[in-house]
Amino acid sequence: MLLQPHEIQPDEVRSLNAEFVDAPLSEVLRWAWDRFGTRAAVGTSFQGAGLVMLHHAVEAGFRFPVFTLDTQLLFPETYELKQKLEQFFGIEIEALVPEQSPEAQAAELGPELWKSRPDTCCTLRKVMPLQRKLENLAVWMTGVRRQQASTREQAQILELYHFDVLRDRYILKLNPMVLWSREQVWEHIRRHQIPYNVLQDRGYRSIGCMPCTRATAGGEDERAGRWTGFDKAECGIHTFLGESI
Ligand code: ADX
Ligand code: SF4
Repeated sequence: MLLQPHEIQPDEVRSLNAEFVDAPLSEVLRWAWDRFGTRAAVGTSFQGAGLVMLHHAVEAGFRFPVFTLDTQLLFPETYELKQKLEQFFGIEIEALVPEQSPEAQAAELGPELWKSRPDTCCTLRKVMPLQRKLENLAVWMTGVRRQQASTREQAQILELYHFDVLRDRYILKLNPMVLWSREQVWEHIRRHQIPYNVLQDRGYRSIGCMPCTRATAGGEDERAGRWTGFDKAECGIHTFLGESI
C-alpha cells in the first residue's frame, strides 16, 4: 500500500536521516524492514551499490521485494546477470516492462527514439513503469551514491519524495549507499564473490540501455558513458519528481 501522509512527518524524516548518517548499512535496512516490511522494495539496475545493499538485506533475512526496470533495451550481459543474481541470492527479481514494446514504440513515435528524444524514451520506458510500481509501495530503496555524479551530490539517505506531482503522491526514498565510495562497493563485491556485470571488466562503469551506454576512459566521470552526445545526465527516475522535503 502507498505511503499514507499520517505515517511519517517531514520532521521525523529529517531526524532519521541524521541518525542514519552514522549507522551501519544493516541498521538502516533493519529500520525499513521493521517498520515497513514488504512495503519497502529494492529497485536495482544490478550495478555495484545495489548489489551490496541486496547482499546485506539477504544476509540479515530481510526479504524485501526486488524489481528492475526492464526497458527491453538492456545488454544481453545484463539479462544474464539478472539470472545469476537470482540464483546467488535465492530471490526473484521482478522485471517491470513499459506499456509498449520497442517495436510498438517505433511504429508510433518513430525508430530509435533515443537518438532524437531520449527524455521521452526514458519517460516511457523507465519513469512511467517506476511510477506505476511506486503506487503500491511505501519505501523505494535505491543504490544511488553521491560520488556518482554532480547531480547526486545532494542525495540524502532518507528522503520524502514527490514521485507523482500530478496526483500529489509521496513515497519514502531510501538511499542507504549515498556515502559509499566506488572502491568500498567493489571491495565488498570482490570479497563476497557477488556476481557482477561482465561489461564492468570491459570499461563500462555505469551500465544502462544498450543504445545509450558506452565504455569510459579512466579519467572520465563514471557516468560519462551514458547518453553521449546529449546534454543529459539522468534518465529521470531520480530527478523528474524534483521536489523533496
Ligand atoms: S540511472 O538513473 O542512470 O539509470 P544508475 O544506473 O546510476 O541510475 O542507478 C542508480 C540507482 O537507480 C540504482 O541503484 C537503482 O536503485 C536505480 N535504478 C537505475 N536504473 C534502474 C533500473 N533499470 N531498474 C531499477 N532501478 C534502477
Ligand atoms: Fe531509451 Fe536510452 Fe532512456 Fe533506455 S536510456 S529508455 S534507450 S533513451
